Amino acid sequence: MGPASAVSATSCEWSDYIADDFSFIDFEPGSRVVDIGFGAGEQMRRLSARGCRTFGVEYSGALAVHGRQAALDVCRAAAEQLPFRSASLDGLICKVVVPYTDEAEAVAEFARVLRPGGVARISYHGLGYSMRYLLTDPNWKRRVYGLRTIVNTLFYRAIGRRLPGFWGDTIYQSSHRLRRYYAANGLTLRKEHRAPRFAGGPVFIYHVLEKTVKVGG
Ligand SMILES: C[S@@+](CC[C@H](N)C(=O)[O-])C[C@H]1O[C@@H](n2cnc3c(N)ncnc32)[C@H](O)[C@@H]1O
Repeated sequence: MGPASAVSATSCEWSDYIADDFSFIDFEPGSRVVDIGFGAGEQMRRLSARGCRTFGVEYSGALAVHGRQAALDVCRAAAEQLPFRSASLDGLICKVVVPYTDEAEAVAEFARVLRPGGVARISYHGLGYSMRYLLTDPNWKRRVYGLRTIVNTLFYRAIGRRLPGFWGDTIYQSSHRLRRYYAANGLTLRKEHRAPRFAGGPVFIYHVLEKTVKVGG
């Protein structure tokens, strides 16, 4: 693993910010694992190739249809309202999807569906992701995207809700807020992988979590 150093935005692509020691698919064969926001299904295929029993959830109807056509075991649903019984899954992965959700509700749902001892492998956007758009992108529309992500996150932090419409599409995460959700939902942070930062903030945040405590009834 490289050092979590600042990287010059002009000299590199997003791939330079990825934690190269983080695996989304490190589960025992036979594990029941869900991919939240599976996109094109790449992680699902890799999990299945390892011998996991793999499910997928997507908010996009088109991607859900595409997944079914590709013979993946998927459905259309939101991360904030998962169609699984409580404590029914051994594992969960979620690769840069939480920025588009109500993060507190999504993390609570992740905790609900994992059995005690179950593991989640999740990546998030950090402040450095938005700052890099805002400060370095040649396209002004993407600079505005970076700005509105920061404004929306400040609003979400203050009010607990996202801004409506265009302004509210994305928020970045912070380790501090995530740790609060984990503590409230019986999740223990087993590992935070180090990755390069931009403008002092993490670009991507990588967490391995374990469901340790049953919360509520
Ligand atoms: C950046 S893509 C990542 C896709 C995939 N995880 C990957 O890494 O290739 C974000 C995905 O999250 C999905 N998404 C957005 N909001 C969601 C929600 N509330 N619940 C579930 N999926 C959501 C989008 O449809 C999109 O496929």
